[in-house]
Amino acid sequence: MEKELKVSAIKDGTVIDHIPAQNLFKVISLLGLENISNQITFGTNLESHKLGRKSIIKVADKFFADDEINKIALVAPEAKLNIIRNYEVVEKRAVEVPNEIIGYVRCFNPKCVTNHQPITTRFYLVNKHPLSLRCHYCEKETTEEHLVIL
Ligand code: CTP
Ligand code: ZN
Repeated sequence: MEKELKVSAIKDGTVIDHIPAQNLFKVISLLGLENISNQITFGTNLESHKLGRKSIIKVADKFFADDEINKIALVAPEAKLNIIRNYEVVEKRAVEVPNEIIGYVRCFNPKCVTNHQPITTRFYLVNKHPLSLRCHYCEKETTEEHLVIL
């Protein structure tokens, strides 16, 4: 039994748990958390049985839409969303890699037009495990080990 929470409980909002520790700042950036004025607390390098080291983010008074939150599935596939209302966990949700990934992944192909002109990148999900995304423009596949988040 844990004696205390490592990061304080919140009254209302969203707790994003089970983020791989090394991807905390990618998740913050994908969700645009730098740009909102809600209270945000986070912890990193916390012990986790599943992940070894995990991060957790708590965003007060924020409830994410599915397409917003599913962006993080590429860097935190095991993430669990806990929706908090009046201090109680009222819902738990998993994240899912979307079928179309628009605007936040770099194409692995150096010759791809998206690497030379200001064009929004666009990929189709080919495979989840291991991750593989096909570029809409050059049709080359970008895989897990070459994944770069813009
Ligand atoms: N939490 C919070 N504020 C609350 C209630 C819960 O910040 N008012 C956080 C808890 O600290 C925990 C997460 O939300 O990190 C999920 O809470 P809970 O389901 O009670 O914890 P666990 O059973 O440990 O969750 P799981 O095993 O599903 O990860
Ligand atoms: Zn491409």
